[in-house]
Amino acid sequence: MRALVWHGKEDIRCDTVTDPEIEQPRDAIVKVTSCAICGSDLHLFHNFIPAMLPGDVMGHEMMGEVVEVGSEARGKLKKGDRVVVPFTIICGECDQCKRGNFSVCQRSNRKKDLADKVFGHATAGLFGYTHLTGGYPGGQAEYLRVPFADATHIKVPDGIPDEKVLFLGDIFPTGWQAAVQCDIQPTDTVAIWGCGPVGQMAIRSAVLLGAKQVIAIDHLPERLEMAEAGGAITINFDEESVVERLNELTGGEGPEKCIDAVGMEAHVSPSMPDTVYDRAKQMLGAESDRPHILREMIYVCRPAGVISIPGVYGGLVDKIPMGQLMNKGLTIRAGQTHVNRWTDDLLHRIEEGQIDPSFVITHTVGLDKGPEMYKVFRDKQDSCIKVVLKP
Ligand SMILES: NC(=O)c1ccc[n+]([C@@H]2O[C@H](COP(=O)([O-])OP(=O)(O)OC[C@H]3O[C@@H](n4cnc5c(N)ncnc54)[C@H](O)[C@@H]3O)[C@@H](O)[C@H]2O)c1
Ligand SMILES: [Zn+2]
Ligand SMILES: [Zn+2]
Repeated sequence: MRALVWHGKEDIRCDTVTDPEIEQPRDAIVKVTSCAICGSDLHLFHNFIPAMLPGDVMGHEMMGEVVEVGSEARGKLKKGDRVVVPFTIICGECDQCKRGNFSVCQRSNRKKDLADKVFGHATAGLFGYTHLTGGYPGGQAEYLRVPFADATHIKVPDGIPDEKVLFLGDIFPTGWQAAVQCDIQPTDTVAIWGCGPVGQMAIRSAVLLGAKQVIAIDHLPERLEMAEAGGAITINFDEESVVERLNELTGGEGPEKCIDAVGMEAHVSPSMPDTVYDRAKQMLGAESDRPHILREMIYVCRPAGVISIPGVYGGLVDKIPMGQLMNKGLTIRAGQTHVNRWTDDLLHRIEEGQIDPSFVITHTVGLDKGPEMYKVFRDKQDSCIKVVLKP
């Protein structure tokens, strides 16, 4: 089959690889009808997340049709079922899965020993991601093996286009969880850093959850425009001081709730000197991530507020102002998304017309164009916001 394969830093190719097969009784094989490129894929593209290996198949946002089902998954899945595949592989049975903490499933990471060593405790297996999360082949491919498939799926009805439900596997529940973690009150201002696909979903989610005011921060005009269309007031960090403007919009008090939808690769600019410092340390291998957003959020957040972090961090960050964080009494909530915790509710909201996540798609192309689209998405060429690939 054809698949997008990681060969090293900024080197992704559309290769012919071996077709996946059923390996375990709970597996299923899905013929991928649509998949997408995620901001998390860019961290792998730049080789900022450790433990990728040449030959790894990329992709963790995908959906399709079940074409084969292992003997122990047959009660829950059958050939012809239409499924979105969550990026988190879940057993559905362990203590964490029972609590709905799916992204830290205790049984789906097949490289548990390695992950235990690096993280203290292993987290769930993830598709198309580092070997720290199992090194499972991803879904930017014609076919995907889904381990623990009887639990690891979201069934979707026929008749609803792929584009409306595809993002149930990642960015929609990710934006939603980021907002839910803020415990939004009707009097709250929610500030969201980053108007990429995750930021866009967080904006819509914060509006749906009844925030008084949603403020979105980025510097790309087309993304700010989309944020505004979703109900946000926008701040362009190239043109104005984020801290001053946020204080101005909140009567000097700061936003109660802050969401980091940027993660480890914050934009580097001399106007934000700490980003230059992080960049230099990153190049020396003395720091793995650029945590500018964390510092800004902690500084501007209203005391007793919440900092919600869907943005991905890989390893070690430097100069986090613990004094501000502690004395202001801030709460930090973070995590890879517990996808299946949210998807029944979110599918209903799509079916009821409360939201149509396809608004974020700007490019739809064949899988063979994938390698080139990684660059287009990374460089924001052609006003690119979200790429869907059709294998
Ligand atoms: N927690 C999860 O489960 C999960 C799931 C999906 C994605 N993610 C992560 O979410 C993050 C965003 O993903 P995406 O797909 O939207 O990526 P993206 O790269 O398209 O978007 C990031 C946006 O941040 C903006 N940005 C950069 N520096 C900024 C600054 N200083 N202030 C404000 N905005 C700034 C960029 O201009 C860009 O628009 C990534 O780190 C990704 O890995 C996490
Ligand atoms: Zn993702
Ligand atoms: Zn589990």
